[in-house]
Amino acid sequence: MTLKTDSLGDQCLLLVTDTSQLTRAKAVGQQYQLNYEFISSADFRLKQLKKRFSSYSYLLILGTEGFEFCDTTQQTAGAIKSDFLSGQFSHRLRTTGIKQELLAKAVGIKAGERPRILDATAGLGRDGFLLASFGCTVTMIERHPIIALLLADGLSRALIDPSLSFIVKNNIEFYQAEAIEYMAGLELHNKPDVVYLDPMFPQQKSSAKVKKEMQLFRIAAAGHTDAPGLLKSALQCAAKRVVVKRPLQGPAILGEVPSFQIKGVSTRYDIYLVTTQLTPETRHFSV
Ligand SMILES: C[S@@+](CC[C@H](N)C(=O)[O-])C[C@H]1O[C@@H](n2cnc3c(N)ncnc32)[C@H](O)[C@@H]1O
Repeated sequence: MTLKTDSLGDQCLLLVTDTSQLTRAKAVGQQYQLNYEFISSADFRLKQLKKRFSSYSYLLILGTEGFEFCDTTQQTAGAIKSDFLSGQFSHRLRTTGIKQELLAKAVGIKAGERPRILDATAGLGRDGFLLASFGCTVTMIERHPIIALLLADGLSRALIDPSLSFIVKNNIEFYQAEAIEYMAGLELHNKPDVVYLDPMFPQQKSSAKVKKEMQLFRIAAAGHTDAPGLLKSALQCAAKRVVVKRPLQGPAILGEVPSFQIKGVSTRYDIYLVTTQLTPETRHFSV
């Protein structure tokens, strides 16, 4: 299954369940070359819709709660969205303190120190949002158009939520871009302190919710296996460190050896400290 990034028209159908969203649907349909159809929200039963539109591999559904994405070939999997307002992530956002979050430690958050972070593989934006909620300024980069659409939609809903709008307005910027190109184009004074990478995990056993999201990332990653290239670019871009999220037992990304690791229950962070004596231009790598 390959989700084409240029033209999605033959694989993905845009379904609109709310008449007030028809203008938006038309614009998105044109931008992504997607056919779109209106279905009444009374007819909205995900399982039935998957069967009814099974000639498409994917459905992008636009309703009152924004965009959701689903794979019609996976009958039992639910729809995926970028959501900072409810569910498991929102709970994590409201209840986890900086001290408990290994990610905060990994990026070098300390009392009075909030690094500027480039989240070069933003996905649905959870890790980047968490870091922004801790007071870091975070630039999120996502290359896949559908995932970028879901993320932009999640951020725009967070922007109108009274408890989250401050974070989005003040601490987050988001670009749909290829991160290697984006990093290469940054002027020296705009380089982040930290580049954070969460490239595709290898197949793993996990909850159904994680599985369906990983499946979307896997579709998006089809044909792109550039983790070593991303690491190389990140090391040239970061002023202080590069942090890579890996499965606990997974191998480090090929190339440089991490300076140290921080291990959690199922996840590990590989931290590559950037040598201060070297400028990004003079650093050399053995990838
Ligand atoms: C595992 S997901 C990241 C999940 C994310 N940390 C989160 O919290 O939702 C990896 C994402 O990185 C994106 N990606 C991979 N390589 C990229 C690149 N070179 N430039 C931009 N995005 C990239 C993929 O499209 C995918 O959405």
